[in-house]
Amino acid sequence: MAKLYVNPNNPKSKINKELYGNFSEHLGRCIYEGLYVGEDSPIPNTNGMRNDVVAALKEMGLPVLRWPGGCFADEYHWMDGIGPKEQRKKILNTHWGGVVEDNSFGTHEFMELCRQIGCKTYINGNVGSGTVQEMSEWVEYMTFSGVSPMADLRKKNGHEEPYTVNYFGVGNENWGCGGNMRAEYYADEYRRYQTYVRNYYDHKRIYKIACGPNSGDYEWTDTVMKIAGKYMDGLSLHHYTIPGDTWEHKGSATQFNEAEYYTTLRKAYYMEELIHRHGAIMDRYDPNKKVGLIIDEWGTWFDVEPGTNPGFLYQQNTMRDAMVAAINLNLFNKHSDRVKMANIAQLVNVLQAVILTEGEKMLLTPTYHVFKMFRDHQEATLLDSSLTTEQIGTETDKVPNLTESVSVAADGTILITLANLSPTTAYPVDTVFAEGAPACVTGKILTGTMHAHNTFDAPETVKTADFTEAKLEADTIRMTVPPCSVISLKVTMK
Ligand code: AHR
Repeated sequence: MAKLYVNPNNPKSKINKELYGNFSEHLGRCIYEGLYVGEDSPIPNTNGMRNDVVAALKEMGLPVLRWPGGCFADEYHWMDGIGPKEQRKKILNTHWGGVVEDNSFGTHEFMELCRQIGCKTYINGNVGSGTVQEMSEWVEYMTFSGVSPMADLRKKNGHEEPYTVNYFGVGNENWGCGGNMRAEYYADEYRRYQTYVRNYYDHKRIYKIACGPNSGDYEWTDTVMKIAGKYMDGLSLHHYTIPGDTWEHKGSATQFNEAEYYTTLRKAYYMEELIHRHGAIMDRYDPNKKVGLIIDEWGTWFDVEPGTNPGFLYQQNTMRDAMVAAINLNLFNKHSDRVKMANIAQLVNVLQAVILTEGEKMLLTPTYHVFKMFRDHQEATLLDSSLTTEQIGTETDKVPNLTESVSVAADGTILITLANLSPTTAYPVDTVFAEGAPACVTGKILTGTMHAHNTFDAPETVKTADFTEAKLEADTIRMTVPPCSVISLKVTMK
């Protein structure tokens, strides 16, 4: 019998809603087709944005969206994407599939998409191939309300009022696709570029994010924090869960055995070590945790779906992805004292997407359902909780059988999110409270075989259902968690 201990009298950090953020790049069918189809499309749209996708994202509670990349960001010249569409430059998307980018989705379209979703904006600027002036003028264009060349240009292009830029990334992966820089060089460049990411007087202060490390590159974190730590609000971290050992053999999204399943989950758990170790370095330079760790690219990365463009990174999404999502989101909650935003890669049709589309059809992936089940952690307060677990898996790949996190919302409702990572074994779990007693519990469950996924012919194979097996017995919540399942419980206390 596993025991989950919850201490409602030990509130910890606030869980920023931005931990549930997402990322959209000009890559494959994420922006074009997935989000934006244009005003003249037969697919129902509002100002070019797919109505079905926007409605699903609102329902999921998407809090923040990062754009335009990724690697694309350090080759993006924002002026190509403003003004009359027929006059916008057609360019080559060198990173992703060598396709023509017609720039019909630019700054105004991104802002319109975020307006429709009702989410915050996270713009990623170009350091690798852009100038300080270009970055500075983009910020002026978007956020300045007065009279200036860039503000006037925005008005001429149809938007009188300034836009709100909540987050601004100064470069992306500048240790790699963003310019192959050394940490010292980037740190100095960061100091210079961020100087001109101006906070115009009536615009809310922009939260500036420096390019952080690739997975376990602790030297990068140390150097950038040392040289530039006091000029940033956040430091990014990128880490993907890739079951295979080489880029050529990452592993299939749907065809995998139990050993590969456990390898994937074990690799997903590496996120915990990354947060600890990068966090410990940040603590040395920033003991009061003013600088947020911004995990703005995470998720599974498999071989592309056979028969699709290798540069488009389209992959299916199974219950294994749901487990990876639950592991990571519970970890982010537990470390919300340092982790201030996270953006899974990517929103639609790319990598661990929450939505897949095909023509006018759309489906919600298992990962989507996990985000929706965890939604009420957003802006709640993390509670002290711990779970007795056992190690399961194979000789080489072991993970805890269960993962959890617990929070309390402003109205006192407690949310418990729990996943059983075993594909075969159910586990009984008793939840006990250090103080107080539960009065009422309701639940949702997402479950299926580890391979279960949704297709355009069978879009509802994996979906949430009510979970009525959690019973109150005296002051204990008693339940059995089925194999390969994610459960969310809402508890009101007496
Ligand atoms: O998400 C796909 C790519 O992965 C991004 O463009 C890049 O930042 C990362 O390497």
